[in-house]
Amino acid sequence: MAEQHAPAGQVTSRLNASVVGISLAAALGGFMFGFDTSVINGAVDALAADFALGPALTGFAVSSALIGCAVGAWFAGPLANRRGRIPVMVIAAVLFLVSAIGSGFAFGVVDLILWRLVGGLGVGAASVIAPAYIAEVSPARVRGRLGSLQQLAIVLGIFVALLSDALFANVAGGAAETLWFGMPAWRWMFLAAAVPAVLYGVCSLRLPESPRYLVARGRLDDAAHVLRDFTGVADPAPMIEDIRRSLNSEQRESLRDLRGDALGLKPIVWVGILLSVFQQAVGINVIFYYSTTLWRSVGFGESDALTITVITSVTNIVVTLVALALVDRVGRRPMLLVGSAGMAVSLGAMAYAFSTATAVTAADGSSSVVLAAPMSTVALIAANAFVVFFGVSWGPITWVLLGEMFPNRIRAGALAVAASAQWVANFAISTTFPALADLGLMFAYGLYAVMAALSFLFVATMIPETKGRELEDMSDAAHTRAPRVTG
Ligand code: GLC
Repeated sequence: MAEQHAPAGQVTSRLNASVVGISLAAALGGFMFGFDTSVINGAVDALAADFALGPALTGFAVSSALIGCAVGAWFAGPLANRRGRIPVMVIAAVLFLVSAIGSGFAFGVVDLILWRLVGGLGVGAASVIAPAYIAEVSPARVRGRLGSLQQLAIVLGIFVALLSDALFANVAGGAAETLWFGMPAWRWMFLAAAVPAVLYGVCSLRLPESPRYLVARGRLDDAAHVLRDFTGVADPAPMIEDIRRSLNSEQRESLRDLRGDALGLKPIVWVGILLSVFQQAVGINVIFYYSTTLWRSVGFGESDALTITVITSVTNIVVTLVALALVDRVGRRPMLLVGSAGMAVSLGAMAYAFSTATAVTAADGSSSVVLAAPMSTVALIAANAFVVFFGVSWGPITWVLLGEMFPNRIRAGALAVAASAQWVANFAISTTFPALADLGLMFAYGLYAVMAALSFLFVATMIPETKGRELEDMSDAAHTRAPRVTG
């Protein structure tokens, strides 16, 4: 196929099984990411009742993890450059474990927030290290597919967290009800995260260090060993030479690291930041964090609303598999463009549907919106279409691109900056949604639709195609902002 771009020393034709294995293990960080950010959904009402929290503190208990994520992502890059990729994974696993146990046994809201922050540090670090590591160990022709494993793991993590929340609540008869050892179900929801945390820690200790990190440290024999035994390179010498050359040619730039002329940063770093911000600005997590409220307003009862939420997360898994199959064949740019267009239309349809909503005030004084019959169906279809378009494009491809678009020398640092921006954007969107929804859901979805349309322009003008190109060839992509299509 035309995308076959095989420099000297590159992989044997059959995809080495161990590269899939180590990518899967690294992607467990994504599973923790999905699990940790959504496990709170099933627990939040019960813990708010147990600790007698008002809306502001409840909101902060939910979003404190996202602040931790931004900080964790920020520090993961420098740490990965100094100590290696594996130690960062192990630290992230320990943070997850500590957070799971701490949150499960929290005495009150203050230490709960603290434990959620600690877990967030781990999620943030994992969100940087998994895509970087996977991109660094993968052969070019399958790098997109392996990079998409990160998103697959994230959406599986979201799904398993929602499912385990539902199971604990069902067995106990409610999230606030006592389950085992006199502890309410919501505490077990957090404690359950200890299982994947231990699994991730154990797996990451068995992973080989990234060959690109080893070359940067002068450990050439170790790098040759990893390339030969794990990533299926028949003769690693030319590959190591490629990596060395790319590290050397970037040496001069590295003195100024990520800094550049464009508003203080290199243009490619800005592209990464914008990619991250647009991924969140289309409002995807509003669906995953607040969907129960949304579906209730469309006229469904509480348990139906929960079922739809679970169905939406399954849809997300299925479309991620579709993306996985397409990304190395179709390329990143076309998929992002189709995704942006589809999201703009489906979000526009949601905004239109909610423009017909009527406000109702319940007996307890709380107000909500109600959609009349045909429009509630439009909203339901449009919201799921939105998840489909996101899941097949911006969900996985943002992570693939962030892993592969930066030159070797600045990868870990630039990815850290871009991922932190993503967590800050996630925080901003999720915390402002209730206020926007108060103004009218039409405004909220209208704003996200505009963002989706802008994301189309952004991809069309600023995103280079990276399909089938070696990481060592990415430096020229770093200097051009014009789209560059290969294959
Ligand atoms: C992406 C986003 C994440 C979101 C997920 C939903 O991974 O980065 O914030 O929750 O997609 O599928």
